[in-house]
Amino acid sequence: MLLTAQDVTFHSDVAPIVFNHCTSCHRPGEIGPMPFTNYEEVAAYGEFIEYVTSIGYMPPWSPDASYSHFVGENVLTADQLETLSAWVGAGKPEGDPADSPGLPEFPDGSQIGIPDHVLVMDEPYAHEGDMSEQYQVFVLPSGFDSAASVRALEVQPGNHNVAHHAILGLDISGTASILDAADPAPGYESFGGFGFNAESSFFGAWVPGALPVEYPPGIGRTIPAGADVLLQMHYGPSAAGETDQTAVNVFLSNEPIEREVYTAIMGPQHLDAPFVIPPNQVTSFHGTLPVTADVSLLSIAPHCHLIGSSWKVYATSPNNGDTIPLISIPSWDFNWQGYFTFPHLTKVPEGYTLHGEATYDNTAENPFNPSDPPQWVYFGEETQDEMFFVFIDLVGYEDGDEEIALGPGTDVCEGDLTGDDLVGVSDALLLLSEFGCQVGCNLDLDGDNAVTVSDVLFLLGQYGTTCN
Ligand code: HEC
Repeated sequence: MLLTAQDVTFHSDVAPIVFNHCTSCHRPGEIGPMPFTNYEEVAAYGEFIEYVTSIGYMPPWSPDASYSHFVGENVLTADQLETLSAWVGAGKPEGDPADSPGLPEFPDGSQIGIPDHVLVMDEPYAHEGDMSEQYQVFVLPSGFDSAASVRALEVQPGNHNVAHHAILGLDISGTASILDAADPAPGYESFGGFGFNAESSFFGAWVPGALPVEYPPGIGRTIPAGADVLLQMHYGPSAAGETDQTAVNVFLSNEPIEREVYTAIMGPQHLDAPFVIPPNQVTSFHGTLPVTADVSLLSIAPHCHLIGSSWKVYATSPNNGDTIPLISIPSWDFNWQGYFTFPHLTKVPEGYTLHGEATYDNTAENPFNPSDPPQWVYFGEETQDEMFFVFIDLVGYEDGDEEIALGPGTDVCEGDLTGDDLVGVSDALLLLSEFGCQVGCNLDLDGDNAVTVSDVLFLLGQYGTTCN
């Protein structure tokens, strides 16, 4: 659809973009610094919105959407960017409120149902109103006297004004409680991770607006008896003092776990060179990890600190004839690191090699460099240290895994694209009209923002369904 500047209005063209891609964070009580919930609020920032979207700064989505797709992908298409520009160029016309799609529903509380257990920070944490970024780990005793099979963990922030992102882990060693006891504040301060060698315990992450990943039936993770759930909260800068008391909702598996999710970790020991980063230069590292059995990947999370500048992770076949792209982050942003979940289980065959490439910009030109002048940088937990990790959640491969979707629970009638209450041939034809679309596609069914074979399979799975 080609829009000329005259046609573009807020209610018919801009509101559908802003409400769906921005308002989850930009509304009262959320992390976005200004609300975008109506014409006046959006028009007031029109030029700024055009600018931050044109440079890809907003919406925050660090993986390259032309390399691989993930659940919850939030990127704007070239058409959508053009619409925003055309609207600003035309003087931000309001148009007819009757054309507005209305604000989406933003549920309070759990987004996926009633949790089986709620683990809550035992006391509120006070975030100083000093515009500082704060990283605090809270220890939440699970209280489970036998091992629990879990299908989802959901972070429920107590104060969305300051809760910027969170990472989750498990500790059965008691180390985190000792660190907590030594820090007088609730929880303990730790910048990079959990403040001790707890890499193998990562259990996902949360960013505002993201739905928690629910494992498909038969797949899950175990929280061992007596384990502590670790919650590292990143609090964004705030000019006013705020308090937060975040909870973690635990959803138990409805059936026994047949396939336990395992986290494979590529770390500094898998690199081609010692992990040391000289000052005043850009340094790259390349890690490799052999794949010794057929596996299905669920999620992936590269992790480094502030001077990390880009990441690429992929798998290659033994003869290098086949490459499976996994994730590319062309411009790493420590503050928007995520745990990225594939739209479907992604097979990597036995005999393949996983590759992780990371680049670190340790020059004075890097505005995120914590050291001025740049220093020699070594592996460590502190702000001025660096890390190299790729966390890969996987299960053993089984036939048909490629068709198991990991996206949010899909409505049985999402395949009804034409709105005729039937999933049939007209829907299939409409879907094919957008086949091959790579970003921000209108007809995407499986939540990865692209229209590919997986959407066709999704539609075929519903074929013949009558909706109401
Ligand atoms: C996941 C949450 C989230 C989403 C989605 C999001 N924003 Fe933001 N936005 C933020 C946060 C947080 C900030 C504050 C700066 C930061 O932390 O990066 C921000 C800052 C901004 C700013 C101010 C930039 C500055 O430098 O002061 C603008 C303008 C903006 N966003 C526009 C948008 C638009 C337009 C969209 C949708 C296309 C959008 N945002 C989507 C969270 C979000």
